[in-house]
Amino acid sequence: MNTPNVTAGPRVALVTGAGAGMGRATSLRLASLGYPVGCLDIDYSAAEAVTREIIEAGGTALTVTADIASKFDIEWALDQVRGKLGPVAILINNAAVEHFGRIDEIDDASWDRVIGVNLKGTFALTQAVVPGMIGQGWGRIVNLAAIGAQTGAPDMSLYTATKGAVIAMTRSLAVELGRHGITVNAVSPGFIDTPMARRAIDGDLFPVPYEQIVAGYPIPRLGRPEEVASACAFFASEDAGYVTGQLLGVNGGAAV
Ligand SMILES: NC(=O)c1ccc[n+]([C@@H]2O[C@H](COP(=O)([O-])OP(=O)(O)OC[C@H]3O[C@@H](n4cnc5c(N)ncnc54)[C@H](O)[C@@H]3O)[C@@H](O)[C@H]2O)c1
Repeated sequence: MNTPNVTAGPRVALVTGAGAGMGRATSLRLASLGYPVGCLDIDYSAAEAVTREIIEAGGTALTVTADIASKFDIEWALDQVRGKLGPVAILINNAAVEHFGRIDEIDDASWDRVIGVNLKGTFALTQAVVPGMIGQGWGRIVNLAAIGAQTGAPDMSLYTATKGAVIAMTRSLAVELGRHGITVNAVSPGFIDTPMARRAIDGDLFPVPYEQIVAGYPIPRLGRPEEVASACAFFASEDAGYVTGQLLGVNGGAAV
């Protein structure tokens, strides 16, 4: 039984890491399309600024401050969203932390935090949201992967390991949940101009200057967060109901 609950109000979206970069752009995009958006971020003031921007533009949004690595925070955040906006129909698993370090430099604390946010956090939030989607007979889950998980990236084995796991999780959940009207897809960004990318550029963390990296791409520039938001919005849409388990690169052709 995959009948969408078309009589209900607008589908509610929850975007993690909504306060900056691609999460911000995706929150703004979904709100402009009429979805009420739960703007979840560990950084209250960043998420609140996005919520205000949405409300000032005539949309509906709610700030939820949470660390997705904490199951306690996740439960609290979902209670807020369900109580104030409604059940989550669209989940954009965007929040993640970057990590740079050679294999021999990765310590247990980094391992725990990066796996804890990028993999366990993404998994735990998905786990908490799926029963409600099954009840509604409709759901959209969009996971943010990373080009490095496809191509490899020096000094990023820990980070890309979490993103590779997110890709595998996307595929398995797609085949598990399709019969419930839930699609699960992943967007794999290339080099996108966000605070995360700027931290790496400013910290001189790439082996060559970033201009040299992007000059080698078929589309020789950094990507824009809004270009990733477009891909997320497509996967979140009613129109994408027969698209599941897919990995869409938004990378200027850097990986095909
Ligand atoms: N920027 C890139 O070039 C790039 C490339 C490939 C993949 N990605 C992925 O795209 C996604 C978005 O990246 P971005 O560049 O916009 O990141 P960003 O660092 O610019 O923004 C991430 C947001 O997530 C929030 N956040 C971090 N940890 C959190 C936690 N534990 N709980 C809740 N919120 C948390 C931050 O406060 C921030 O507002 C991430 O999954 C990232 O791994 C980014």
